[in-house]
Formats: sequence, C-alpha cells, structure tokens
Amino acid sequence: MMLWSATVALLGLFTTLQVEATSHRPDLRVPACPRKATASFDKTLPDNKPFPKTSVDLCYTNSALKLVFTATGESKYYVDEKQGTNDEIWRYEVMEAFISRGSEDPATYLEFEINPKNVTYQAFVYNPTRVRAENAPFDHFFVSDPIGDGLVAKTTTDAAKKLWVSDVTIPLALFNAESDVFRLRGSQWRMNFFRTITNETLYPDQILGAWKSPGKASFHITPAFGHITFI
Ligand SMILES: *[C@@H]1O[C@H](CO)[C@@H](O)[C@H](O)[C@H]1NC(C)=O
Ligand SMILES: *[C@@H]1O[C@H](CO)[C@@H](O)[C@H](O)[C@H]1NC(C)=O
Repeated sequence: MMLWSATVALLGLFTTLQVEATSHRPDLRVPACPRKATASFDKTLPDNKPFPKTSVDLCYTNSALKLVFTATGESKYYVDEKQGTNDEIWRYEVMEAFISRGSEDPATYLEFEINPKNVTYQAFVYNPTRVRAENAPFDHFFVSDPIGDGLVAKTTTDAAKKLWVSDVTIPLALFNAESDVFRLRGSQWRMNFFRTITNETLYPDQILGAWKSPGKASFHITPAFGHITFI
C-alpha cells in the first residue's frame, strides 16, 4: 500500500516536472562554435508589416557568446557621427541584443547595441517590473570600458548590397557563465534582438523590428524574450 502511494506520488512528480520542462521548450538551440544557430526576423514591431530581413547568428565558446548581426535592405546607415561609446545611439539606426542567463523573465539583463559606424552602447538594465511600467524604477548601469572588458565588435557595410554586418564578442563572465563548453551545454538563456531604422525625413521616428514581438513598441518587456538553450 505504502509502496503504491509512493509510486503514485512519484508519477505525479514526474508528470509535473515534464510539464515544466516542455513549457520552456527553447525557441532556439545554440551550438558551440564554429557551428551556429540563427535568429531572424522580417516584420515591424508592433504592426507585423514587412521589415528588411535582419538576422543574428549565435554560437558560444568557453568564454564568449559570439553574435553576427546582419542587416539587409539598409539604405541610409543613418547615425549621428558625433556619437561615441554609450551615447544614445538608439535614437538612430542600431541592432540590439538583450541578454540574460537563466530561464526566468529577467529584471536585469545586458542591453547591447551597435550602429553601422561600429559605435556600441552597453549597459545592464534594471527593470524590476519587467515591462518598464510607468512611474516604476528603470535604470541603466553602463559598461564603461567595453573594449578592455573584451566586449568587442567588427563592422562592415556594403552600400551597393544595402548590407550591414557586425560581428560581436560578448564575454560570458558578464553573466558568471564562463566555463568549459561541455559544462555550458544545457544552460538556459533569455534573449531578444531588435533593429531600428530611420532616415532624415523619418527622424526622430523609427521603424522597429524584433525577433520576439512584445506586441507593442517597447523593447523592455522581458516576458516576450525568447528562450534559448546552449546545446
Ligand atoms: C570596431 O570597434 C572595435 C572595438 O569594439 C575595434 O576593434 C574595430 O577595429 C572597430 N572597427 C571596425 C571597422 O570594425
Ligand atoms: C525614409 O524612410 C521612409 C520609410 O521607409 C521613406 O518613405 C522615405 O522616403 C525615406 N526618406 C529618405 C530621404 O530616404
């Protein structure tokens, strides 16, 4: 009798765990480099209208997450040339990655941005409501020496092909995650990717695109971030 109840209880537990596991089925499985996985999008946020195809190739090493952002259909490379590291480059044209380790909807995460002139913006965000609610705390802690920290990028543009490619290295130690590749396998992450498009007639308005749509024109809605598993 006792054994029977224990078995039933155990079966119940097993079922619960299984449900839990399947509810976090990853949107993307990212392999160790040099293999890669690709997140791509071609719809505007929030209206789901056509948007120039944008993709992010991802892979990981012992020490870094490697991202290759590719923007097609880029006609203006519209930036403010006077802007430098950690300036408000998001007012113009950028591609962005929001990254946190773990499977939960994050309240803190890295916000990384790059523009077609290779200028970067990198800060940890504090967004305790997880949706950037009005009249609630929302803060940024800047990474002040990105190159010294190993957070580096390489950008190429090809105007004839309307292309812009940025190759980015993000140290895993920013997330306490550096380890050997074997141990990183199975780790869970939340990420989202965005792109902004503007030009001299549109500015300060922008056309927005997102990998995982939060359903409105705000990037800081973390329940919408994709689920990623390193494999
Ligand atoms: C872009 O910035 C990186 C540092 O993040 C630098 O090493 C590289 O030379 C810069 N230039 C280009 C064209 O990528
Ligand atoms: C700016 O972009 C909008 C929307 O794509 C377009 O209608 C407009 O012609 C563009 N302006 C310039 C100067 O390229």
